[in-house]
Amino acid sequence: MKKKCPHIPQETHVALLMGGWNSEREVSLSTGKGFLESLTRQGYQVKALDLKRDVAELVQFLTPRPDIVLLALHGVYVEDGRLQGILDIMDIPYAPSSGALASALATNKPIAKQLFVNAGIPCAKGGVFKWKDIQATHPMHTPYVIKPIDEGSSVGVYIIEKGQSPIQNKIEWPFGEEVLVEEYIPGLELSCAVLKDKPLAVIELRAKSGFYDYKNKYTDNMTTHLIPAPIPKDVYDQIMDYSLRAHQALGCKSISRSDFRYNPENGDICILELNTLPGCTPLSIVPDICRYKGISFDELIFTLIEDGLCRD
Ligand SMILES: Nc1ncnc2c1ncn2[C@@H]1O[C@H](COP(=O)(O)OP(=O)(O)OP(=O)(O)O)[C@@H](O)[C@H]1O
Ligand SMILES: [Mg+2]
Repeated sequence: MKKKCPHIPQETHVALLMGGWNSEREVSLSTGKGFLESLTRQGYQVKALDLKRDVAELVQFLTPRPDIVLLALHGVYVEDGRLQGILDIMDIPYAPSSGALASALATNKPIAKQLFVNAGIPCAKGGVFKWKDIQATHPMHTPYVIKPIDEGSSVGVYIIEKGQSPIQNKIEWPFGEEVLVEEYIPGLELSCAVLKDKPLAVIELRAKSGFYDYKNKYTDNMTTHLIPAPIPKDVYDQIMDYSLRAHQALGCKSISRSDFRYNPENGDICILELNTLPGCTPLSIVPDICRYKGISFDELIFTLIEDGLCRD
C-alpha cells in the first residue's frame, strides 16, 4: 500500500488546477470553485492555480510536489491527455485519473466511436468530412449534426434541419478543417456516470427548448434533470452496461460520463461520446447522479482523490 493510501484530508496536499485557455474555461472555473470549496470544507492542504499555457509556471506551482493534482479542467489540451502526459513525466498522481492515452482516445470523437463500435456499443452513423466539402454539398440526408472532432460543452455542435445547410445557417467554423458529421438521432437525451468501474445511474436531460446546447447546459432552469431516467427497465440497464463497456473500452479510470440518445419510436440507443473529466458545476450531471446514489459532493471529491492516490 502506498504511503498516502488510504489518505487523511488534513495530511494531504492537493494542487487544484482550473481555468485553462480553451472554450470551456468558464465551465472549468465553475467546476473549480465547487472543488475548492469542498477541499477546504474537508480540511485538505490545498493550493489552486488558474492554469495558463505556461509550463514553467505549472512546474513552479507543482514545486514542492503535492501529493496529488485535482483536475477541474475540461476540453482541448487539458482533458485530451497532453496535461496528463506532463503530470506523468513529473510522476505526480492526478484525479480524476484517466491516463494520457484514455484521455486522448475519449477526446477524439471519431476514434472513440470506432472503439465503441468494436466494443459492441452502437453509435450514430456518420463520418469525418472537410469543412469546405460540406459547405458545397450535404454530406448526408438532413437532419444531421455537425460537430468538432474534439470540443466539449456542445461548443460547435449544430443540427442541420431539413431545408437548411451550413452556409444558409451562416455557421462559423474555427475548429479546424475536419468536421464530424452524424445522423440526427431523435428522441431522449440520456447520460450515465461510471465511478470506479461501477455504473451509477441513468439521467434524462430535458431541455425546455432546443437541444442540450451550451446555454441549456449552463443556465439556470433551462433543462430539467430526471433521475432515474423514466425509461423502460431494459433500456435503463442497457445504458448502464454500455457506459461501463465504453469506460473500459477506452481504458478510463476513476470516473467517466457517457452521453446517449435514445429513440423510443424504434428503440435505437446511440452513444454520443464519453467524458473523462466530466463537468461538476452546480448544473452538471455527475454531482446530480452522485446525490441520487447517496454520494455527497464531498464524498465524490474524497473518492476521486483516494482513487488517484491508490493507483500505481
Ligand atoms: N447525433 C446526434 N443526434 C442528436 N443530437 C445530437 C447528436 N450529436 C449531438 N447531439 C446533441 O448535441 C449535444 C452535444 O453533443 P456531444 O455530447 O457530442 O458534444 P460535447 O460538446 O462533447 O458535449 P459535452 O458537454 O458532454 O462534452 C448532445 O448532448 C445532443 O443534445
Ligand atoms: Mg456530451
